[in-house]
Amino acid sequence: MYNSIQDTLIIGKKVIYLPTCHSTNDIAAEIVHAGLFDEGTIVITDNQVKGRGQRGTEWVANPGENLTFSVILTPGFLPVGDQFLLSQAVALGIRAYAGKYVDDSKVKWPNDVQVNGKKVCGVLIENSIQGNKISSSVIGIGVNINQKVFANAYATSIGKETGRQFVLGDEFHKLLRCLDVFYADLLSKASHDRIRKDYLTNLYGYNHSVWFKHQNRVFEGTVSHVTQQGKLVMQLLSENGTLEVGLKEIEWLKD
Ligand code: BTN
Repeated sequence: MYNSIQDTLIIGKKVIYLPTCHSTNDIAAEIVHAGLFDEGTIVITDNQVKGRGQRGTEWVANPGENLTFSVILTPGFLPVGDQFLLSQAVALGIRAYAGKYVDDSKVKWPNDVQVNGKKVCGVLIENSIQGNKISSSVIGIGVNINQKVFANAYATSIGKETGRQFVLGDEFHKLLRCLDVFYADLLSKASHDRIRKDYLTNLYGYNHSVWFKHQNRVFEGTVSHVTQQGKLVMQLLSENGTLEVGLKEIEWLKD
């Protein structure tokens, strides 16, 4: 159903397809644990029955309508202190893919991708650390492609936004090529500042005010910057000053 591709540097040369599985991230983690894999190997399924999302949530996708897969990477060249760069590169790769179809495509901190203001993709990155390096990383990606009906009003798909029906295998390859370009970029330290800048300028809330909740208070603000560790710094509009937040410390509210 999903073929490997050979015209990338690292990602997708080996593809493991499972018609059904609990979570591709869990299967990929087992492969990493067993120790025998090539970097860039992918686990993909058409029917993920126990998909995991960020913050312990569930990722639900209609069977056979979307892309649900995990990529195994070994970014040993990245110091632990730079691990957010991996998140940034992955989000930018997915945004570049979505941008082929929808002009308004943005990254929503930390690494959701949205089109026309709605979430089209979620990413769950699970890193293993050895010493000061990231020894392996399982990058779980769920992109809504052909699904047209969603329980959540703020979810969408590429197909819904464009009114088109896509061949999943073709979209899988296009997405892998975009991911590969951004991952290859990470290999060169000279690109790191550009990736950080590119991430910031494509971020939801950058140069545009947004509403969010922090410690039970509602704020309006714009994104000021993202620290090297991946913390988000918001410039507050309602009061003077900035607010630095980490994962799980902020809830985006709809504007
Ligand atoms: C989120 O936005 O909460 C992250 C969702 C990540 C979902 C993907 S689907 C493929 C991979 N396997 C999982 O169990 N989760 C990720």
